[in-house]
Amino acid sequence: MTNLRSSEETINEHDVFSKVTLVYMSPNGSTRKCAELIAEQIKGEGEVLLIDLARIDSSELESIISETTLLGVGSPTYHLNMLDPVKIFLEGIPNIPINKSQGRCSFCFTTYGHVNSGKTLINMAKILHKKHYAVLGALKLRAKHFYQKSIMFPNSEDQDLILKFCETIKYRITNPIEWRKLSKMLNYQYLKVKLIYPIIQIFGSSFRVPKFNFNKDLCTSCGLCEENCPTHVIIISELPKKQKGCIYCFNCVMFCPTGAIYSDLDKVKRILKFDAKVLHEESIREII
Ligand SMILES: Cc1cc2nc3c(=O)[nH]c(=O)nc-3n(C[C@H](O)[C@H](O)[C@H](O)COP(=O)(O)O)c2cc1C
Ligand code: SF4
Ligand code: SF4
Repeated sequence: MTNLRSSEETINEHDVFSKVTLVYMSPNGSTRKCAELIAEQIKGEGEVLLIDLARIDSSELESIISETTLLGVGSPTYHLNMLDPVKIFLEGIPNIPINKSQGRCSFCFTTYGHVNSGKTLINMAKILHKKHYAVLGALKLRAKHFYQKSIMFPNSEDQDLILKFCETIKYRITNPIEWRKLSKMLNYQYLKVKLIYPIIQIFGSSFRVPKFNFNKDLCTSCGLCEENCPTHVIIISELPKKQKGCIYCFNCVMFCPTGAIYSDLDKVKRILKFDAKVLHEESIREII
C-alpha cells in the first residue's frame, strides 16, 4: 500500500479500481471502441461502467461520478481539441474538496484522424487536475476519418498499446507521476497547435465552414438523421429541423439514405488532407 497524495490516509490499487467509470463521446465509433477495450482490460479489477454522453441524461451523471473512484474520459479530436459536449461534462463535474479527493483518480484518452491530436489531452487533463483528481496518464491513438472505411481500427498495435496503457495506469496508482511533469509531457506539440493552427484558421475560416443543404422533396421522414445525431440537435416533427449545438460530425449526411441532407464532403476531405500536411504528427499512438 502506498500513499497517492502524501496525506495521512493510504490508498491501494483495489480501492481505486472498485468503481471505474468511462465517459466518452464517439460520433463515428472509434473512441467508443477504445473505451470498450479499456473496459475489457480492467473489468476483472472491479465494477466498470461505460457512459456514452450521447445517450445519457446529464442529470443522472452527478451521482454516478460522485461514487466513481477511477474516472476515464475519452473524446475524439475535432479541430485539435476535445468535443464541446466532453468539455461541458468535465467542467460540470463538481469540485472535490482536497481533503476528500484522496483516491479519486482519472485518466484521459483521445482518438484522432490523420491530422493531429492537438491539445485534446492536455486540455482534458487540466480540467481533471483543476477538479482535484489525480491524473494518472493519457492515451492517444490515431484512428480514422469518417470517410476512411477501409482503415482498420483498432489494429493489433492499438490493442497492444491499450493493454500497456491499462498496466501503466495500475502502476501509477502506487507510483504517481507528478502533475508538473505530466502536464509538460502532454504539451507535446505546443508550437504547432499554438502558432500554426490559428494561422491556418484565419486564412481558411470561410472556406472551412461546411455548409449543410436540405432538400425536403427527398426527405422520407425516416428519422435516421435524428437517431444518429450525437448531440440530439436534429428534431423531426414532420421534416428534420437542426437546432444549435451541431458539432459538424457529418453523421446526418452519412446516414441519410436519400441524400436529403447534403454537404460537400469532398471539400471536407480536401481541408483535412491540407491540415494533415501542415500539422502532421510523428508519433501516431502514444501513452503519456
Ligand atoms: C469536424 C471534424 C474535425 C476533425 N478534426 C480533427 C483534427 O483536428 N485532427 C485530427 O487528427 N482528426 C480530426 N478529425 C478526425 C477525428 O478525430 C477522428 O475521426 C476520430 O477518431 C473520430 O472519433 P470517433 O470515431 O470516436 O467519432 C476530425 C473529424 C471531424 C468530423
Ligand atoms: S446535426 Fe448532423 S453534423 Fe450536426 S451534430 Fe448532428 S449529426 Fe452531427
Ligand atoms: S435521414 Fe434523410 S430522409 Fe431520413 S429523416 Fe433525415 S433527412 Fe429525411
